[in-house]
Amino acid sequence: MPGEYRTGLGWDVHRTGAGDSIWLGGVRIPAGYGLVGHSDADVLLHAITDAVLGAAAMGDIGMHFPDTDPKWKSATSDRFLRHAVELARGQGFELVNVDCTAVLERPKLKDHRDAIRNSIAAIAGLAPDRVNVKFKTAENVGAVGEGRSVEAQATVTVRRG
Ligand code: C5P
Ligand code: MG
Repeated sequence: MPGEYRTGLGWDVHRTGAGDSIWLGGVRIPAGYGLVGHSDADVLLHAITDAVLGAAAMGDIGMHFPDTDPKWKSATSDRFLRHAVELARGQGFELVNVDCTAVLERPKLKDHRDAIRNSIAAIAGLAPDRVNVKFKTAENVGAVGEGRSVEAQATVTVRRG
């Protein structure tokens, strides 16, 4: 399709901690541990939010949702992504697609793939076939591999005109 295309990159990490489940892409996943964060620590939605802001050249998540602001304490991260999509729309950009990777040793996420994909699509206002979700281990190496943190990466393409 004609128009101006831009791509943004996002990355995030959260420490593991007390708890028995983690939020990934707006879906609660039983994990046997939790993730530490000012919000719900949804590392995947945070990476996607940064990718949207990157594609629209609108800075990063901390600029728009400072973790020092009590307003965002315990916020569910779908609010961040919805707001970023609205900010991009305000600049005339519509999302084209989202691709993302969550990096964690456990749990295995294959059975949650469709739920996470559908959730991200609903939050971002996209058809599910414009969203792809990948999972990787860190091969037991480093902080992620040793289960001390979980990382996520994302790219988002937007189109204007
Ligand atoms: O990290 P690795 O290449 O060994 O992952 C192989 C596959 O295992 C991935 O492509 C993904 O489908 C799956 N996986 C998963 N849950 C994880 C990590 C990987 O389902 N936490
Ligand atoms: Mg985060």
